[in-house]
Amino acid sequence: MAIHPPEQRIWWNEALSKKEIVWIIVAFLWGLVMFFTMIAWHFTGEQNLSNEAYRIDPDVFAERTEAMVEKYKVREEGDTGIPVVHPPPGSDVYLIARLWEWWPVLELEKDKQYRLHLSSLDWQHGFSLQPTNINIQVHPGYDMVLTITPSETGEYGIVCNEFCGIGHHQMVGKIHVVDK
Ligand code: CUA
Repeated sequence: MAIHPPEQRIWWNEALSKKEIVWIIVAFLWGLVMFFTMIAWHFTGEQNLSNEAYRIDPDVFAERTEAMVEKYKVREEGDTGIPVVHPPPGSDVYLIARLWEWWPVLELEKDKQYRLHLSSLDWQHGFSLQPTNINIQVHPGYDMVLTITPSETGEYGIVCNEFCGIGHHQMVGKIHVVDK
């Protein structure tokens, strides 16, 4: 029994009990099932977006985001006056994660493709798109790129799903999907 200490100090030369070997086989086969499910899910699961990842300096990412906001800002929203950006379909779209906001608000067109870039300017954050089940980790120094085509109009919420400090629960953002 595994709960008793080994009788001999050189325990690894003892024969395996039959139960033990059965459990090792079961665990190994289950590991294989999980591994191939992971690959299959990549193709069949709808919430698993494949992302590309590149190294990027946080200052460079901030510059690119600010340039996009300056060029394509259409209005401001909410009490904070956060800019709403309507970039042209097919373009590169940037979203900053930082303590404690997602900046800016994006307005995308339905059935158009975009390259969505996500990065953090400080700590690790988690991009969770509501009410869909899309989750992407967002790290400082990495440009996470998703090729997306929004398929339904509406207002989507972004919540941070990596604990990032005292304001974590307030770190919410928004993406509008509109008909053109
Ligand atoms: Cu950002 Cu939690």
